[in-house]
Amino acid sequence: MKILVIGGGAREHALVWKLAQSPKVKEIYAAPGNAGTAPIAQNLNVAATDIAALLKTAREKQIDLTVVGPEAPLAEGIVDRFRDAGLPIFGPSQKAAAIESSKVFAKDLMQKHGIPCARSASFDSYSEAKAYLEKQAPPVVVKADGLAAGKGVVVATSISEALVALDDFMAKKTLGRAGDRIIIEECLAGREMSAFAFTDGETVVPMLPACDYKRVFDGDRGPNTGGMGSYSPPPFYTAALAEKVTGTIMVPTVRAMAKEGRPYKGVLYGGLMLTADGPKVLEFNARFGDPETQVVLPLLKTDLADIMLAVVDNRLGQLKVEWRDGACVGVVLASGGYPGSYKTGLPVNGLDSLDEDILVFHAGTKLDAAGQVVTNGGRVLTVVATGQTIAEAREKVYNNIPRLHFEGCHYRRDVGLVLNRA
Ligand code: AMP
Ligand code: GLY
Repeated sequence: MKILVIGGGAREHALVWKLAQSPKVKEIYAAPGNAGTAPIAQNLNVAATDIAALLKTAREKQIDLTVVGPEAPLAEGIVDRFRDAGLPIFGPSQKAAAIESSKVFAKDLMQKHGIPCARSASFDSYSEAKAYLEKQAPPVVVKADGLAAGKGVVVATSISEALVALDDFMAKKTLGRAGDRIIIEECLAGREMSAFAFTDGETVVPMLPACDYKRVFDGDRGPNTGGMGSYSPPPFYTAALAEKVTGTIMVPTVRAMAKEGRPYKGVLYGGLMLTADGPKVLEFNARFGDPETQVVLPLLKTDLADIMLAVVDNRLGQLKVEWRDGACVGVVLASGGYPGSYKTGLPVNGLDSLDEDILVFHAGTKLDAAGQVVTNGGRVLTVVATGQTIAEAREKVYNNIPRLHFEGCHYRRDVGLVLNRA
């Protein structure tokens, strides 16, 4: 088989790494990929959002399966375009990807079908939203409807802070059209976790869940990022909780999407809050998580190409998906200044000095003219280790990280340490 993986982050490097282990897979292409995918895939100079060029490439290279990493091409309908062209592709259609690309759609779906989530109201009028907000008691959450790369949610501790967010999204249009509609919702308290399932629209196969660390500094301080680290599985994820998440959230959501005429295929990602009233949905994503994928795929025993083909061919029910025992911890090494502005083109050293069982998934890296790995983005590497326990995996990761170096490198020291964040 020839596979095309779309995207260029550490999530996509992990997908390429896992797919490369399949005896079925002969060649892998990455569009655009990074310095980490270069030795195991052929990197193509095609942007993840250039659907026409991706389609052309898939035809020319006679790709047997395309795998979509990021949300933007899904929201733009890449899956529909490939399917219309008769090209097998793993991911939800544009109508199904609305579960991530429109928070108002996702919220309406959950309310209509009884899927547990925060109480909320949605607005397309600034003055009505403002009048409603002025009657609320803090804390309150303001969310932009559309894709906003993590910048569309403000958990406000005062109404004045919430009004500023509302003004930014709806009046100043800081997120463009993504802020045309907004949601104002109740602030939930509890532990946060990410649940994932493979689904062909009918069968729902839960994956191992994970937790990610969104704030840039230890102790969950500082601004939000794309994710600074992750671990799997959460020790508090008991069999009873797993049953509840699958039975009250993941399966009902896939059923609801089918009923709405938007059959959902691919990976369904539920960002959850474990509240005193049980697990509730904060948001859905229509794809694998980043950095969660980097700690979930190393624990997957089953051939990922087999799973993806079964999803595409609607026969996931015939496949047994198995996971390894143990745990996995991943720590993101970021560029100095990230999530603000940062330099690129800085040499990354020490990649060949790591213990054999350490995995390094590249994100913002590229090879320079001399073949040296240099930085090329905010999140540069995810360093990953597995172990019998999270503590063991954590120790391995943090023993190895000091051997890696690039100017300005920073990372969190508490990934996998503080497990009971509330
Ligand atoms: P989202 O993009 O919807 O996952 O929101 C980003 C982050 O905002 C989440 O990871 C939560 O930490 C927080 N958040 C979102 N919705 C709520 C809510 N209703 N209550 C409390 N925190 C929330
Ligand atoms: N880990 C957050 C995301 O993938 O959206």
